[in-house]
Amino acid sequence: MQQFLQTEIVQVDALCPEADIIERAASLLRNGEVVVFPTETVYGLGGDAFQPAALERIFAAKGRPFSDPLIVHIAHEGDLEQLTRHIPEAAKRLAKAFWPGPLTLILPKGERVPKLVTAGLETVAVRMPRHPVALALIRALGSPIAAPSANRFMHVSPTTAQHAYDDLAGRVPLILDGGPCEVGVESTVLDLHSDVPTILRPGGVSLEVLRTVLPDVQPPRPRPVHEESRQEEQQAQLSPGQMLLHYAPSVPLLLYDGSVAHMRTAMLRELERRQRQGERVGVLVADEDLPIFEGHDAILYKLGSAQNPSQVASALFAGLRALEEARVQVILCRNFDEHGLGLAVRDRLLKAAGGKIIEV
Ligand code: TXA
Ligand code: MG
Repeated sequence: MQQFLQTEIVQVDALCPEADIIERAASLLRNGEVVVFPTETVYGLGGDAFQPAALERIFAAKGRPFSDPLIVHIAHEGDLEQLTRHIPEAAKRLAKAFWPGPLTLILPKGERVPKLVTAGLETVAVRMPRHPVALALIRALGSPIAAPSANRFMHVSPTTAQHAYDDLAGRVPLILDGGPCEVGVESTVLDLHSDVPTILRPGGVSLEVLRTVLPDVQPPRPRPVHEESRQEEQQAQLSPGQMLLHYAPSVPLLLYDGSVAHMRTAMLRELERRQRQGERVGVLVADEDLPIFEGHDAILYKLGSAQNPSQVASALFAGLRALEEARVQVILCRNFDEHGLGLAVRDRLLKAAGGKIIEV
């Protein structure tokens, strides 16, 4: 693994990125280096998708197994031609409706795409991000950028430059800081290679919205729970990126599901029990539940209204990291409805809870 004495964080205008800063980052990428950059979903750890040495550096910096394939980021729909053998009609329609934006399409892989990008699969994941900094960087490089989320393997995805720095300091030369990410959860990964278009990872474009363009899109299939971390690599090969521990914070998270009244009662009881034992408890709390927990000696992180899943999605990863930083011993959180980005929120909470739900 390459070590950098200094990881530089450079502020960049999120709406109108400074050309000299983008050029500096692009020139690192041209030389086979990696750079952290903002997207509308989460920060990415990018390298030139056509330079195998750069791809190796991505895996090394993250500590990610080679069996977990990367998303290739493009800035023009025309870039698809060098990445895929065949562009299905459905892909064209979806791209027209949702690109640039938080939708990743799984397509048949083109010959030029390095094996390291796809983990040897016959398919490639492609998306066109809508963040001006990401788009400017891809254009300046003149080549697609392969980028996973800019966190250490198994940690929560970063939604600020500081989060990426906390995970990758000394492992990357440069982080472009374009402020907090708007969506806050990763892109929706949609498999267009199988017979029926199926969501592999719910994300920034909801199932309902996808169905307005492609009515037969299927929701994600339920995943098996894998708790042994030594099984992770094997699991990654079976269904890439769908490991239940993928987003785990370093603190245990207890996830409650049931009626709102029951979730509140159960969480309050658990909070009081742990406090009697002198534990430091964190709660990811919805606005509506705030009065229940205020006045108790817990560390609260507000997620926004339970009626507004986009708001919850955008606060969730920052909340997990903030409570980790606050050195709580356990995190309590209620579950949210499936509508809109709620499906992605539920997925990330389930992963953070190691696949366990406390039904109340
Ligand atoms: O929003 C996002 O998607 C962010 C930003 C940086 O664009 N990227 C991101 O990348 O979340 P990563 O590597 O953390 O997650 C990529 C997901 C993984 O679940 C991976 O297994 C899946 O996409 N994936 C990549 N290529 C695939 C393929 N050919 N078939 C199935 N899944 C694939
Ligand atoms: Mg990731």
